[in-house]
Amino acid sequence: MMNYRTLGSTRLQVSELCLGTMTFRWTSTEDEAYQVMDAAWDAGINFFDTADVYSRWAPGNPGGVAEEIIGKWLVTRRIPRDKIIIATKVRGRMWEGADGEGLSRAHILRAVQDSLRRLQIEYIDLYQSHSPDEHTPQEETLRAYDDLIHQGTVRFIGCSNFNAQQLRQALDISQALRIARYETLQPHYNLIWRGEFENELQALCAQENIGVIPYSPLQGGFLTGKYKRGRPLPATGRGANNERFKKWLQDERALTLLETLEQISAERGESMTVTTLAWMLTNPVVSSAIIGANNAAQLNQALPASGKKLGASEMERLHRISQWS
Ligand SMILES: NC(=O)c1ccc[n+]([C@@H]2O[C@H](COP(=O)([O-])OP(=O)(O)OC[C@H]3O[C@@H](n4cnc5c(N)ncnc54)[C@H](OP(=O)(O)O)[C@@H]3O)[C@@H](O)[C@H]2O)c1
Repeated sequence: MMNYRTLGSTRLQVSELCLGTMTFRWTSTEDEAYQVMDAAWDAGINFFDTADVYSRWAPGNPGGVAEEIIGKWLVTRRIPRDKIIIATKVRGRMWEGADGEGLSRAHILRAVQDSLRRLQIEYIDLYQSHSPDEHTPQEETLRAYDDLIHQGTVRFIGCSNFNAQQLRQALDISQALRIARYETLQPHYNLIWRGEFENELQALCAQENIGVIPYSPLQGGFLTGKYKRGRPLPATGRGANNERFKKWLQDERALTLLETLEQISAERGESMTVTTLAWMLTNPVVSSAIIGANNAAQLNQALPASGKKLGASEMERLHRISQWS
């Protein structure tokens, strides 16, 4: 059964597993994408995360493909608009020219209309800055978002890949100008990538009641049990030739982490995927973990994580073994 949590101060009730859609027509086909969305929706996942650029890096893909696939699914499955929470992002390059990327007012005002058209919706629940834009004053970005909120085009705004200083500055600007503030943070955070989030951002988010929606909680599959000491990289979409994973498979600390996770999973009688996600969901500052799945079978393996928490001694063992990350 899917559990729901309040997304920061927004009062939105989001499933504690959010469906990430970066894999659509990258490491999954369009048909697989529909099957993944069907399985997620049927399991009670009411929170979908995408971005206008997904997945522009896949050969032959223009940006906007994932949003288009979601839009077609929303229409063909007749998903009631008020029952699903759609999050998308803006920042990456979507057209040629000076305002073709970034967080300028000019870029945002055009990009949001493109996202709405592709998604076939009239408003976006959560519109996120994909990463900081050092060339645009944060005030310009936040004022543009505030206008979109007043127009009813966007309900809430969030940011991703911001450090604590950037988020603090944005919150201060919003407060001083009495305009919309970032209500969510989407950080890269998981058991093998802890430091960036935990060192400064976690405390700020807790203090400000910012909804935290970590991405890549399984570290692109690395924490699911298929990466093992002495074994070659699996020939999967995310695994093949992955330099970061190759490096970790030579790193004693990473290998010990994988083996500890495997041991705890065996003791609990659960898959490593579930234990990894349960570790994330045990942290009360997390609103929803944004998972990725290439197919419905992978998604189904993640679902039992909802409602699971690790015990204090399991958390302590994992804390000790992953402190370096
Ligand atoms: N804001 C940002 O900058 C940013 C960056 C990245 C992601 N995101 C968001 O976060 C979402 C999730 O990211 P992610 O895809 O990296 O998440 P993830 O859940 O850490 O990794 C998903 C990948 O793990 C593997 N996997 C998943 N379930 C598995 C299972 N049960 N058994 C074995 N392997 C399994 C699959 O890769 P293989 O089968 O190919 O190995 C799958 O593509 C994205 O879709 C996107 O919405 C945001």
